[in-house]
Amino acid sequence: MAAHNQNGLPRRKFLDYFLGGGLATVLAAMLAPVGAYLWPARKRGGAQDVIDAGPTRDWPVATAKNFQVGGHPFSVIRVSESDFKAYSLACPHLGCIVQWDSPTRTFKCPCHAGVFSQDGKVVSGPPPGPLLAYEVMVVGDNVKVKVPPV
Ligand code: FES
Repeated sequence: MAAHNQNGLPRRKFLDYFLGGGLATVLAAMLAPVGAYLWPARKRGGAQDVIDAGPTRDWPVATAKNFQVGGHPFSVIRVSESDFKAYSLACPHLGCIVQWDSPTRTFKCPCHAGVFSQDGKVVSGPPPGPLLAYEVMVVGDNVKVKVPPV
């Protein structure tokens, strides 16, 4: 006659369930990080694609605010009272970080003197193309930027 625990479950079956459940838990804990690596939140359509750049008030024309999402720096500039633009700060030449120069309304690259207009277009220097532009929306009094998946 098989030994039973208090629930009437044979001891052997109880141990099988107990050890099987423990093994499944250990496997799930080991595979969860692999799954998160293979299917990161952004590729699953995460809700982090739009960031709030702040209110339009107290944001003078020709000034910029810098942000960083997923290790990618970008800048939002107020071109006029009603127009905002956002660009990746990675120079399309060799990837140095460009900087907004408010007096000249240009982005300047410190590495090889590349210069970009406030529209992101190359003004001078070796960059082969414009800065990567991000979509900007003004919702109410807030500036929102749609950041592409990283
Ligand atoms: S990396 Fe910007 S001009 Fe060369």
